[in-house]
Amino acid sequence: MLGRMTAPVPSSSPHERLRALLDARPVILAPMEDVTDAVFRRLCRARGAELCVTEFVNAEKLVTGTRDARRRMTLAPDDAPTAIQIYGGDAELLVEAARIAEAAGPAFIDLNCGCWVPKIARRGAGSGWLRDPAAMVAMARRIVAAVALPVTVKTRIGFGREPEMPIVDLSRRLEDAGVAALTIHCRTALMAHTGSADWSWARRAREACSIPVIVNGDVRTADDAARALAETGAAGVMIGRAAIGHPWIFAEARALLDRGVQLPPPTVDARLDLLAEHTAANVAARGEYAGVRVTRRHLEGYLAGVPDGPALRRALLGADTLAACLALIDRARTRLATVRAA
Ligand SMILES: Cc1cc2nc3c(=O)[nH]c(=O)nc-3n(C[C@H](O)[C@H](O)[C@H](O)COP(=O)(O)O)c2cc1C
Repeated sequence: MLGRMTAPVPSSSPHERLRALLDARPVILAPMEDVTDAVFRRLCRARGAELCVTEFVNAEKLVTGTRDARRRMTLAPDDAPTAIQIYGGDAELLVEAARIAEAAGPAFIDLNCGCWVPKIARRGAGSGWLRDPAAMVAMARRIVAAVALPVTVKTRIGFGREPEMPIVDLSRRLEDAGVAALTIHCRTALMAHTGSADWSWARRAREACSIPVIVNGDVRTADDAARALAETGAAGVMIGRAAIGHPWIFAEARALLDRGVQLPPPTVDARLDLLAEHTAANVAARGEYAGVRVTRRHLEGYLAGVPDGPALRRALLGADTLAACLALIDRARTRLATVRAA
């Protein structure tokens, strides 16, 4: 007699997986050029970032296959769930880029419609799309039709010159175009990173549409993450700058959200250990020259609260090799141990 047959468990679709991820109200690592690379995603994921988005990848460079574009969109098997973010001002190129990005195996494709940098926005890319919401919706619709993976949009509340911010109306229109979720950096493009993010726009957009809305902007602590979710009812919260040099923020936010627990700040030893690990991993991934330099942006965060941190930071900024960086970090550890033993 045949053994009892168990029905095969249907593997869920990428759309269902994204829904399930967002049902859990994740704390998400923001896309940040020269920051959110494979190494940093791994460090943040190990500390509670449940979803990551790559640095933006230029559509044209992706289509021509430049080395940098390939690096940005290459995902290791354990780098999941991660979305690949693409940007450009030409819908045709974005369609082609989305197809190429899809083949790299991300959880979904994210369209950057929020970058404020003038040389990008002026060309109609990034937040340039906010100057013509109808064109932005049409572009998103084309990309949704071109790929099987979910397509999400990351944008701002408006360009900044409009009499009324377009984001609420836009959220409905993007939903209608088939966009699976929307991340809102709650500033205008003209604000760049100045002023304060106004999370109430994420709430208004969420109330206007039925796709998940992710709130972003000025979430600096676990308390901020809890407040941003509570005030907006968003499906997730995305953290950028506060994670630089402080990847522990994801664990801190998760502990507060799930258990109401305020985690103590990382110890000085934990800070120095992770700085050493991060530097070595960056050098392994990018070579010594780029690897040492790409870590420098994180120094201030890692060394916050470390005795003599500013002096150590200055010394590390002048160190060009991995060996020199590790020696400086080691010397700081030894100094600390001596002070403790005294
Ligand atoms: C150094 C840096 C690089 C960034 N690069 C990108 C990017 O590639 N794609 C993108 O959508 N946003 C990018 N952003 C914007 C962030 O994703 C985020 O929307 C913004 O910093 C606000 O969030 P925060 O207050 O948590 O930092 C970048 C921000 C910074 C500081």
